[in-house]
Amino acid sequence: MTSHRDAAHPPQVGVPVDVLDGLTRFRHRLGMFGRAVHWYQEIGSTNDAALLLAERGDEEGTLVGADLQTAGRGRQGRIWSSPRGAGLYVSAILRPPKPVVALLTLAAGVSIADGIREASGLTVDLKWPNDAYLGGRKVAGILAEAGTADIGFNHVVLGIGINVSEASYPPEVAARATSLEREVGRPVDRGLVLASCLSALAARYRQLLTDAPGVLATWRSYSAVMLGRRVECTVGLRSVVGVAEDIDDTGALIVRAGDETIRVISGEVIWS
Ligand code: BTN
Repeated sequence: MTSHRDAAHPPQVGVPVDVLDGLTRFRHRLGMFGRAVHWYQEIGSTNDAALLLAERGDEEGTLVGADLQTAGRGRQGRIWSSPRGAGLYVSAILRPPKPVVALLTLAAGVSIADGIREASGLTVDLKWPNDAYLGGRKVAGILAEAGTADIGFNHVVLGIGINVSEASYPPEVAARATSLEREVGRPVDRGLVLASCLSALAARYRQLLTDAPGVLATWRSYSAVMLGRRVECTVGLRSVVGVAEDIDDTGALIVRAGDETIRVISGEVIWS
């Protein structure tokens, strides 16, 4: 393993014992994930580091994790608060075939829901496109970022953030966030959570290649309390208020606003 001393790659440390234990116990279910793991005590964003590794050709399944992120980011340019040791901050390199790229975030959401259920017994609610909620508060999020080579699309980095323990979040985050430990009322092993989520990701990624409708059906089941709800979304320059009816087979959110049916592909969706 190399150790670049720049903003994206500060000096690496060994993989923490709890994470290593989880990955070792689940090694037969992890597929390509975890053959190469780069771990940092502190980093800007694991997504930035993974994007650099992907650009230099590191293999699919390579993981970058950190105990703390100083510039963790979420969708829509938001900050992902990443206090030391309170959560999982992990990014994985994928090189998916083009047809499944648009469904990756939803498949990752299903994987996180599967993994959290296996590790803690808790069932999350998924909100399109990528948020996991427990008791109405956000517990996990996914940030998929595509890298481009000279000839177009080349790789995707899937960044996963999961709040495992209580932490001193900034007040605006604390009001909307929860953690697995808070919801389950006991300590939660982050290595087990990570390994469960990655083994689910390995399985759901395989399923995506052969049975994408099956992945979408499971996404709907995790999103049952969200679909049918009122949403406000930005579509291009328009702001639309309507009811989130379903997702289609491309992963777009279908919103009914009066007589109009709108496909939301990206952008901001506020659920009320
Ligand atoms: C969101 O809910 O908006 C997505 C949050 C994604 C956070 C993870 S933490 C690991 C990876 N590194 C980042 O900077 N972001 C993702």
